[in-house]
Amino acid sequence: MTLDKNFLWGGATAANQAEGGVLEGGRGLSNVDLLPTGPDRKKVAAGELEMLEWKEGYYYPAKVAIDMYQHYMEDIQLFAEMGFKVYRMSLSWSRIFPNGDEEEPNEAGLLFYETIFKELRKHTIEPLVTIAHFDVPVHLIKEYGGWRNRRLVDFYAHYAETVIKRYKGLVKYWLTINEINILLHQPFVGGGIVFKEGDNKQEIKYQAAHHQLVASALATKIAHEVDHENKVGCMLAGGSHYPYTCRPEDYQEAINRDREGYFFIDVQARGKYPNYALKKFEREGLTIQMESGDKDILAASPVDFVTFSYYCSRTVSANPEDYAQATGNLFPSIKNDYLPSTEWGWQIDPLGLRNSLNQLYDRYQKPLFIVENGLGAVDSPDKNGYVEDDYRIDYLKKHIQSFKDAVEIDGVELLGYTTWGCIDLVAASTGQMSKRYGFIYVDRDDEGKGTLKRSKKKSFDWYKKVIASNGDSL
Ligand code: BG6
Repeated sequence: MTLDKNFLWGGATAANQAEGGVLEGGRGLSNVDLLPTGPDRKKVAAGELEMLEWKEGYYYPAKVAIDMYQHYMEDIQLFAEMGFKVYRMSLSWSRIFPNGDEEEPNEAGLLFYETIFKELRKHTIEPLVTIAHFDVPVHLIKEYGGWRNRRLVDFYAHYAETVIKRYKGLVKYWLTINEINILLHQPFVGGGIVFKEGDNKQEIKYQAAHHQLVASALATKIAHEVDHENKVGCMLAGGSHYPYTCRPEDYQEAINRDREGYFFIDVQARGKYPNYALKKFEREGLTIQMESGDKDILAASPVDFVTFSYYCSRTVSANPEDYAQATGNLFPSIKNDYLPSTEWGWQIDPLGLRNSLNQLYDRYQKPLFIVENGLGAVDSPDKNGYVEDDYRIDYLKKHIQSFKDAVEIDGVELLGYTTWGCIDLVAASTGQMSKRYGFIYVDRDDEGKGTLKRSKKKSFDWYKKVIASNGDSL
């Protein structure tokens, strides 16, 4: 088996990290607009520091981001030039429903994306649309407490129904919630949750997870009802966990950590809670409120395909002392001496991608889609904005070879591949612009200075050839 001739090659971005124009066209404020750069970012992202409006003394990179709001047409032109077959993007929830709880959507917001989808189709680029990528309207946080509140299920379902109906015929591939397992690690980013004193954090996170899982199943149901051509996917922050040693306890730890993420996908792909999760709730005394129809909703609408992001693998141990040498990852991970690291401490592991693909395919037996992968690195452009990013080409080449092996040697069913940040954008974890992933350089720095001018890097022409040869020329 080789890569299918219809294999979907392309790139990915998200509204909150690229669009900017946060108050343009009637848009409301969203959680991610309120993530500052600097040391407080982590606390805000974790829901430990309340930041529900812009405050003096902070810099908020999402306000302008790379101003795709104004540059979309130019950027799509460049994606088309690279030969993209697919472009993964997200809708900004608060552009469609500025507060989140309105009955009527914001027409200007709907029209904005309609124009984009038409432009993509003009270039025969298939849109792959994430309904919520780290995105909760701030009003829903202030008024209802974010996804901890059951009401969010209805607000999200109404939003999903609105966009799925409106873009019928323009959008066929939908992802319900980006990196749904991030909710456990960054509850404000993943679920608009700000903790209050006395909160049972674990219970709140899993309650919010239940709401998101039900909402995701409802969106899947709606998409199938609106158009039987629609395909809906779930989305995991992927990358498997390795045991630090072959001690059985370390292996068990690795299994447990993998399950923290699989938990979500198990429900979304199989339509029911896995036993290990129900046992965990029981063991830890977590009371998760579920309504009587929820089981049926989950069972009735499993996703059609499974997507994930892959940047690195992680290494874990049962012994807390082993974490003395932790890496700069969002997930706790010990440094793996067999792997090199990026400048941000993410461990580069191309074979880990093939292994992850196999694990996911063994587990779900559904088509897979790698919707994020890439190297965040510091680029040094010449005076024309050209970057000799051989390091990026090298990273991508190895990862593409690895997924080709998974398809050609192991027989994994893979629909497509979208590299993360195909155009430079704001980093989710740090808010930096200097952590760049793109084939296209954007002149903007960590303090918001720069012309926003776009220019092609060396990897631009390289990726164009990769796509044109359907992955034969790496
Ligand atoms: C994933 C997210 O976590 O990884 C993206 O879905 C994010 O939004 C990407 O940008 C890379 O992480 P970072 O922190 O380097 O931007």
